[in-house]
Parts: sequence; C-alpha cells; structure tokens
Amino acid sequence: MPAYGMPFPPIRDFPGSDPDCARLSKPDSGCFRLNRTDPCIPRCIPIFPRSQGAKSAGCPGSYGERAAMSSYRNAKNVGYVMIGQGAISQLEEVLAPLRARGGQAVWFFDHFFTTSDLPKRLPVQDKDVIVFVDSTEEPTTDGIDAYTKQVKEGLEGALPCALLAFGGGATMDTCKCVGNLLTNPGRAEDYQGWELVKNPAPYKIGCPTLSGTGSESSRTGVLCNEVKNLKLGMNSDFTMFDQLVLDPDLSVTVPREQYFFTGIDTYMHCFESLSGSYRNVVVDSLAEKAIDLSRQVFLSADMMTAENREKLMIASYLGGLAAGFVGVVHPISAGLSMVLHMHHGIANCYALSVLEDIYPEQHSEVMGMMAKQGVSLKKGICANLTDAQYQQLYDASIVHEKPLTNALGPDFRKVLTPENVIARFKRM
Ligand SMILES: [Fe+2]
Repeated sequence: MPAYGMPFPPIRDFPGSDPDCARLSKPDSGCFRLNRTDPCIPRCIPIFPRSQGAKSAGCPGSYGERAAMSSYRNAKNVGYVMIGQGAISQLEEVLAPLRARGGQAVWFFDHFFTTSDLPKRLPVQDKDVIVFVDSTEEPTTDGIDAYTKQVKEGLEGALPCALLAFGGGATMDTCKCVGNLLTNPGRAEDYQGWELVKNPAPYKIGCPTLSGTGSESSRTGVLCNEVKNLKLGMNSDFTMFDQLVLDPDLSVTVPREQYFFTGIDTYMHCFESLSGSYRNVVVDSLAEKAIDLSRQVFLSADMMTAENREKLMIASYLGGLAAGFVGVVHPISAGLSMVLHMHHGIANCYALSVLEDIYPEQHSEVMGMMAKQGVSLKKGICANLTDAQYQQLYDASIVHEKPLTNALGPDFRKVLTPENVIARFKRM
C-alpha cells in the first residue's frame, strides 16, 4: 500500500481555532500566509469576515508587497501517511530503519488495550517500553510529567528509536507531549502555548484506533492544567506525528456510542468552520470533504462497516488538517467538560441539541444521524444543578470569545446572555 501524498500544506492553530485555547490567543493579524510556490495558489490567504476585503484587513496586495513582508508561514505536515485495511501489517517495515539506528521503541496504548491481544500482534520487542494511557479523563500536565518519568526510567537515559501511539485523542496527545519532554527540559506546563518547544522530538508514529478528534494530523497536544484551570495545547511543529498508519481494522472494537460521539467531532469542527466568518480556501476545502465523508458514514445503514471505518479515519485526518475556527458548539461543549467533566464528543452533541436556532440545518442533520445509528442522549443532565454551577457553565462557555465571534460576530454576548445560555443548559 503506497503512502498517500499530501495535497496541500495545512493551516491550523489559528488564534481561537481551539476553544480550549481562548485564554491565550495569539495576535490576530487578519492574514494567514502559506509558503507555497504554486502560482495557482494565493500565497496570502485572508482570514477575516467575508464582508471585508483583503486590503482593508491589512493583507498585502501585490506579489512584491507580500514578498517584502517575508512572514509567510512555513506550514508543516505529517511526513508519511499509510491508509487502508491491513496497513498496520507494514508497521514492522516502517520501524526497521528506525530500529537500525539503535534505541528502544516506546509504545503508548489506550488502557482499553490492557486486556486486548493487539500489543501481542504488533512488532513489540522485549526491550521496548510499553505505556498504557488512562483515557478516562482528558490528559493533564501532571499526567504527562508522570508518563515522561516512566518512559525516561524505561529508557535508562537513552533516546528511543521511535514513539508509537495506539488509541484516540488522549493517547495520541499523550504520546506527542511526552515526545516533546524527552528532548526538552522542564515540565509539561512549560510548553503549553505556541512555539515553546525548541528541540525536535523523537520520531513519532500515530496509529489511531478511534477516529474524530483529528489529533493524528494536528500540531497540538491538548492538556488540562488543573492548577491554572487552563486547558491548552503544546502547539508546535515538533508536536506533530512523523508517520501515520490509518488502518480501519484498528477501530473495529470501538463501542458504537463512543464511535459515534468521537467520530462526529470531525463533522462539528468542520461545519462550525464553514459556518463562521473567518474562512480561507484551504480550510474550506478540507472541511467540506471531511463533512462529505462524515455524512456518508453516519447517514448509511451501518456506520461501522470496514468501508465506513476507513472513511471516518480519513475524515478525521482531513478535519485535523483543516483545524479552522470553531463556533458556538465547542464553547458550550467546553463548559460541559469543565463543569461536569463530560467527554468532548458527547458534550458537542449535547451542545448542538440546544442550538437549533443558531444551527438549524446541522441540528436537524445530526439528530437524524443519531436516530439512524441508534444513538441517543439521556435528558436532564443539567436539571438539578445549583445556581453557582449554572453560572460556572456560563462562564466556562462564554470565555471562548474567538469562536463565538466567528459564529455570531463581536456582539455575541447580546445573543448569548446568561439567561439565554443557562436556559439552553437546562433543556439538555
Ligand atoms: Fe472538537
């Protein structure tokens, strides 16, 4: 199976693209620049409300002006991607040249695989280090520090030949962040932000077993810092995987509800991006295709056929590459995750379930998908909370200004008043 070529540089990590990062947004120049020599593709792709023109947003007009600014972003991508049923059987071949350089491999498995025979079917060697990642909760900075200590002890001071991740977003993010800490001093919290990682991480191979988060193709590893009450990723080119193996056989054992709620995250990210004001051609193109694939999967008779599991893996991969701005769903979802510790995917669905006035078409479509796949949301999750908890839910949602502005404009607070938002939570 040949590795798929990359069609286009990614655009990701726009300020505010991750609602979890709203507290540390980068300055927004209004322009995003690609390093691309193809004359057919604009080298400066404006990101601003559609009603504005490039010039008015300060985007350089002529080619010469653009070159003079010399601030085009040199966008990085995942190096190699192998896609298809059975692709994991080539893992040993992929690992061979890395092992030839010396060093152990470090394998991160979702704790779901503790009792699975998957590790035994992989080219794990006796000397390798195996880490089971507890994905019950989202990764934390303290958790990453602990996993890093465990890995360093297993490696006895040496660097590994490769890090490999088998799991969903939590496991992949853990692998990505531990990788950074093997070659950079300090603790995980030191690298929450943008471009703080200075040294390249060891070679990383991502093998998602659960599709939807886009972690496999993003340049961030999202971490909860409980002391700072801050959910923020290590955003860096060094955080990215070097190789992906997208094998739908790996997701065959995922429980149906988890498959749906995690998988639909891609649809959510992408429709929010396409519904917003901050747009560009690359993100739109990737997001449109990811949504198309998501529809093919979730509107089919059985979302978990081998063909559909492969389509969802590709949709998730494209969605991770797109990483456009999100909208109202993700901030409301973040409120649920912060206050009720709800998993991201199902929280997204609860959020959309009470946003029928803002996203009528998508609300109708996702509710239809859930009915089609026999997945449901238990009612009354916010029925008996205290006033203080309702206020916390509101605060944890409304803090995400960039996505909310993207969706509703700068006056979003006039729509999303405390009464309005709390009433939505009470309807869940
Ligand atoms: Fe998401």
